[in-house]
Amino acid sequence: MNLDVVILAAGQGTRMRSNLPKVLHAVAGKPMLAHVLDSARALSPRQIHVVIGHGAESVRAILAADDVNWVVQEQQLGTGHAVAQVLPHTEGADQLLVLYADVPLLRLASLQRLTSLAGADKLGLLTVDMSDPSGYGRIVRDAADRVQAIVEQKDASPQQLLIHESNTGIMALPGAKARAWLTSLSSDNAQGEYYLTDVVAMAVAESLPVVVAQPDDELEVMGANNRQQLAVLERAWQQREAERLMAAGVTLIDPSRLDVRGEITVGRDIEIDVNVVLQGRVVIEDNVRIEANVVIRDAHIAAGSVIKAFSHIEGAQVGQACEVGPYARLRQGTCLHDGSKVGNFVETKNTTLGAGSKINHLSYVGDAEVGRGVNIGAGTITCNYDGVNKFVTRIEDGVFVGSNSALVAPVTLGEGSTIAAGSTITADVPADNLAFGRARQTLRADWKSSKPS
Ligand code: UD1
Ligand code: CA
Repeated sequence: MNLDVVILAAGQGTRMRSNLPKVLHAVAGKPMLAHVLDSARALSPRQIHVVIGHGAESVRAILAADDVNWVVQEQQLGTGHAVAQVLPHTEGADQLLVLYADVPLLRLASLQRLTSLAGADKLGLLTVDMSDPSGYGRIVRDAADRVQAIVEQKDASPQQLLIHESNTGIMALPGAKARAWLTSLSSDNAQGEYYLTDVVAMAVAESLPVVVAQPDDELEVMGANNRQQLAVLERAWQQREAERLMAAGVTLIDPSRLDVRGEITVGRDIEIDVNVVLQGRVVIEDNVRIEANVVIRDAHIAAGSVIKAFSHIEGAQVGQACEVGPYARLRQGTCLHDGSKVGNFVETKNTTLGAGSKINHLSYVGDAEVGRGVNIGAGTITCNYDGVNKFVTRIEDGVFVGSNSALVAPVTLGEGSTIAAGSTITADVPADNLAFGRARQTLRADWKSSKPS
């Protein structure tokens, strides 16, 4: 069966009070429209059409999806008018599934229920029973409980306003009927708009079955018209994600104080303390412990490692049984081999740290290749940048770098060498040598203090 998905994204979203088109506002770090596109793709449709209008160019540019047919609706004359814009592109579709770009929490299962129930020859509606349905279209049924029409709030009689079953807006139309119905809509209603919902009465008039599916929960079909509602969706998304992680074997000290903004893959028996933010693609293997207030983005943390409080990890690989932090910053291109340690107030960038090596305190190590069993003392700095170019520091296996050393790259510290504390190292150090790069201490016994005696 040929399924075409139509995503409505042309509205302005005035109540966001934003220069950004509404559908680009993010839930879990990703534009709402991108979430809806993900759900659409998961249905493996023949084609996805997105109807854009307000901010059309920025929406298209930011989403940069080349599997999407972008259709511009110049004037927003109503949901029916919006869907009608794609008709020139839906030839041969057996079913049109209409989604809203500002409804990002919809689950695949609910969509599949709707599309399979409706098939190619029934009209399918996704409805929900709301305790407070104000603002929504109401599902009008006859005495035999058959759906007769959808009536918009502004067109509804006092009787109809008492109906709690509401239209989510998500609808599956038979492809063979879509053209005839959408081209005969009228705007003769309270809002002077072409209502998509009027196709229900048309189906009924043709004795075409109208079937109804419901989502598992109301949040799935909730849209965001303002930033308050956006925040509600964000929390709902985060709660879902926290539940998924716990179901996979992760202990969350407080499920409401974890934020996931990306794709997280987890092992078992991981413990995550409060206020942790995981972004981008993050893989966390078994038995990792993440302490409070840690931010991790695009990183791989191998089994048994501990990330201590207030650390920031981005674009890094952490091997097994490593210790990072507290207050460590691992930047792009950091690779910690098994059992290595990066301690407090240490920044690393583009650096490989060999197995069992340690940078425990107050250092900057950038563009460095550090071997195994190396100890880098407190306050060590790789001087990797001359203002124009970056240079590499090589520190071979078993080197001991004394505290407060400056390693002026390009430079190599040979295997087993020792750098005396406070050195400025500007030339290569051969293996097993002790290098001093500091002024010799002098003493003045004849010195007289100017302090009054
Ligand atoms: C619509 C439904 C209503 C339903 C409600 C659920 C109609 C007539 N009414 O009402 O039954 O309960 O959604 O939220 O369908 N859009 C366009 N182009 C347009 C008009 C709208 O792309 O010309 C897009 C909007 O950007 C939005 C979606 O369609 O994503 C819904 O439009 P909106 O104006 O919010 O519809 P409602 O009046 O809320
Ligand atoms: Ca709406």
